[in-house]
Amino acid sequence: MTRNKIALIGGGQIGGILALIAAQKELGDVVVVDIPDIEGKVKGKALDIMEARPHDGWDINLEGSSDYSQIEGSDVVIITAGVPRKPGMTREDLLDVNLKIITNVANNVKKYAPDSFVIVVTNPLDAIVYTFYKISGFLKNRVVGMAGALDTGRFRAFIAMETGLSVKDVSCVVLGGHGPTMVPLPRLATVGGVPIDRLLSQEQIDAIVDRTRKAGTEIVKLLANGSAYFSPAVAIMQMAEAYLKDKKRVIPSAALCEGEYGIDGYFIGVPAVIGGGGVEKILEVELTDEEKEMLNNTLNVVKKTVEETGV
Ligand code: APR
Repeated sequence: MTRNKIALIGGGQIGGILALIAAQKELGDVVVVDIPDIEGKVKGKALDIMEARPHDGWDINLEGSSDYSQIEGSDVVIITAGVPRKPGMTREDLLDVNLKIITNVANNVKKYAPDSFVIVVTNPLDAIVYTFYKISGFLKNRVVGMAGALDTGRFRAFIAMETGLSVKDVSCVVLGGHGPTMVPLPRLATVGGVPIDRLLSQEQIDAIVDRTRKAGTEIVKLLANGSAYFSPAVAIMQMAEAYLKDKKRVIPSAALCEGEYGIDGYFIGVPAVIGGGGVEKILEVELTDEEKEMLNNTLNVVKKTVEETGV
């Protein structure tokens, strides 16, 4: 048996935490690739974690590089390469600069890790994951965008904070694009199987839904010079682990819809089964007319950004 290999493309804020979590969970050997200017930083982060391993005995190896050939043979590739948001910027404002970056990354992943499962994180997520898919030519089950896992985690956190109950017992789902038009579904949210409208008032539920939609922006404002990194990193590694351990977890993810939810040809947040086959299936739930309208609204935003990519 050989160890799994995880390639992190982009070793910034999220990439660094991803490397730490991969080590802590012993998910596989890690290579962190960044641009030549940043090579020293990613080598330093990798070495720092190498030296953290003895305390808890994490038997995996990490290295940093600016050479894409180092990702050869990777089982999972996680892409955070790009620039993050600053206060006042929408995720869409990042499109031009991050498009150039993803084009370069996609060509290198295609060349060196053609059999990998790819998790795209770079924003604007729905358009960037679409671009990666088109340029790489990967099968649809091998490409997924991380957004719903994070948005659902935020929704769960706020429900737990408001009810005072364990975050572990909160279950819910957020559909749609990664932005303010996302569609949290409070109708399906439960704590230990108990619907949240038994635990919270309508005003409290509305406030939680609103806060979930704006949660990324709330953190961008507080940090003042970047976007969230702890919660995205944990959410991403749930997806990577589900693939590497064939867990068949149901994780809201930006997956390519081909007819599901009446959507055709776009990556958008839907409940996805993630296991050893990558995105193995998209699960469909019956939506109310109001929810359908919200999903249509978020789809239009995704379509517009995808059109702007020109891919
Ligand atoms: N190849 C590899 N790495 C690159 C490339 C490239 N072509 N271009 C940029 N990078 C690197 C940057 O040098 C930086 O180290 O990507 C890293 C991004 O890290 P941060 O700026 O710290 O951003 P982070 O907070 O990690 O977010 C990354 O995820 O949530 C999204 O909007 C966010 O698009 C952003 C991404």
